[in-house]
Amino acid sequence: MTYIFAHRGASKYAPENTMSAFKKALEMKADGIELDVQLTKDKIPVIIHDETVKRTTDGKGFVSEFTYNQLQNLDAGKWFSKQFSGERIPTLEEFLIWMKQTKLLLNIELKNTIMPYYGMERIVYELVDRHKLKDRVIYSSFNHYSLQELKQIDQKVEIAPLYSSGLYEPWNYVKSLSTDCVHPHWRTLHPAILKGFRDHDIKVRVYTVNDPKKVKWLCDQKVEAIITDVPDTTRAVADGSLLVKPTVIGNVFHKINPKSYF
Ligand code: G3P
Ligand code: MG
Repeated sequence: MTYIFAHRGASKYAPENTMSAFKKALEMKADGIELDVQLTKDKIPVIIHDETVKRTTDGKGFVSEFTYNQLQNLDAGKWFSKQFSGERIPTLEEFLIWMKQTKLLLNIELKNTIMPYYGMERIVYELVDRHKLKDRVIYSSFNHYSLQELKQIDQKVEIAPLYSSGLYEPWNYVKSLSTDCVHPHWRTLHPAILKGFRDHDIKVRVYTVNDPKKVKWLCDQKVEAIITDVPDTTRAVADGSLLVKPTVIGNVFHKINPKSYF
């Protein structure tokens, strides 16, 4: 059975990366949550996608220039709708405390490709460890050096490289990172690529898939998980209560000759 991960929470229905979006994802029966972490000036891991606060709050400036206390003055809900005004940027710790009362899995995406956030890996790892949630957490990042740093801290952590380009035989690269998990953008996929991952026992969690027909095809392909903004319809497709015709993903990679992989 394919797991459903709510991308930034149930971000179609509530402001992304807020406690409202996470609670909604739980209500919609997501198996897990994907969220993005940046560091404040005083090195507190906070949940926000962009390096700056402009798009998703009423403030402006880099997250790294705000202390945790200063960030709490920003409204992270009203840009989405008036109904959510007063929503705050959550800390990762606040999320972990809430998550403990649930059975949710967690995918922490370290947002450290633009800002280097020195020491972020250990800060986040120790926080998760302190809350005894190591077994329910998957770390992902577009910064694969950072994932290797996590492995050096604890070789048992589950790491998953994110990628969005047409990597050649990506299973070889994934194995070179000493992991058996990968988080590709759905556009990079192709039946032959998925077969390559399957043949190498690599768990594929695909982002960000909202179209029910693509969801259906990916479930038929037995991917490990789908990361989605709409956990309700994605759940319905996955459990068969919403019937749709599958759409095969893979046309954009027309230069791949699928036969060479079968
Ligand atoms: O982790 C999957 C996805 O969230 C990666 O891209 O930009 O939505 O964080 P982005
Ligand atoms: Mg993300």
